Amino acid sequence: MAHYPELAGRVALITGAAQGIGAETARLFAAQSTSVAVVDIDKTGAGAVVAEIIKTKGKAAAIAADITDADAVARAVAETVRQFGGLDIIINCAGGYGRLATIEDMPIDEWDRTVALNLRGAFLLCKTAIPHLKKSKAGRIINVASISGRTVHAASSPAYGAAKAGVIQLTRFLAYQLGPDNITANSIAPITTLTPRVAALRTEADIERIAQQVPLRRLAVPEDHAQAMLFLASDAAAYISGVVLDINGGRIMM
Ligand SMILES: NC(=O)c1ccc[n+]([C@@H]2O[C@H](COP(=O)([O-])OP(=O)(O)OC[C@H]3O[C@@H](n4cnc5c(N)ncnc54)[C@H](O)[C@@H]3O)[C@@H](O)[C@H]2O)c1
Repeated sequence: MAHYPELAGRVALITGAAQGIGAETARLFAAQSTSVAVVDIDKTGAGAVVAEIIKTKGKAAAIAADITDADAVARAVAETVRQFGGLDIIINCAGGYGRLATIEDMPIDEWDRTVALNLRGAFLLCKTAIPHLKKSKAGRIINVASISGRTVHAASSPAYGAAKAGVIQLTRFLAYQLGPDNITANSIAPITTLTPRVAALRTEADIERIAQQVPLRRLAVPEDHAQAMLFLASDAAAYISGVVLDINGGRIMM
């Protein structure tokens, strides 16, 4: 694993960190001696990730919050600052969608829920965290978008794709408006990733078929994204802001 000594002692808040990409990102930041707030609607899962980090002598706290609820987000940020004394890095990783759908057959409440989880949640955390990031010497915002926000492909949801495209544009506004405060804002756009959840949904044949469409001939694993986020949070990426980093094995080249 890459080593970024400057991340030691910094404080990161990661949403959706009870499992999948968020959990792996929490583990990798903790391994750099970053203090990590593991924020998730799943309190038990968040607690399990924190227990694992503490066992390896890392610093972490589990904070239960629904990121679509403004009051819960405010409490999560306040609790992070109370426990760790500040906030340097936020990672909006909570997201997803329920099912594949066409626009015609999508109920309005499903549209609203999907956009709220993927876009409103990211907006709420950014808005709430900005005053604290402004006090950091190296404030970082990292938003997890998706290949679905970069291009249209069959296996997705229009609400999800539109929300993730929104996340990318929100990130550009953040980069533009917060640059004078020495805060960078970037997004990553993962392809289908072999998280435990995705692995459970797909057959071996599915995984092989998808892998054959990728120039690197494999699906992403959570660590591919976590490593990229470590880099974006590090001092090595101090002059990178407003970009979307495609992490898709070369599947889509923009
Ligand atoms: N896994 C993939 O194939 C893939 C591909 C592209 C993009 N992404 C994006 O990467 C991110 C992580 O994906 P993943 O597959 O690791 O996710 P996952 O489904 O494995 O985990 C999502 C986590 O978010 C939490 N969560 C859900 N709703 C929440 C809410 N309202 N408030 C707080 N927490 C909530 C869940 O409890 C869960 O722990 C998401 O934003 C997703 O859209 C994933």
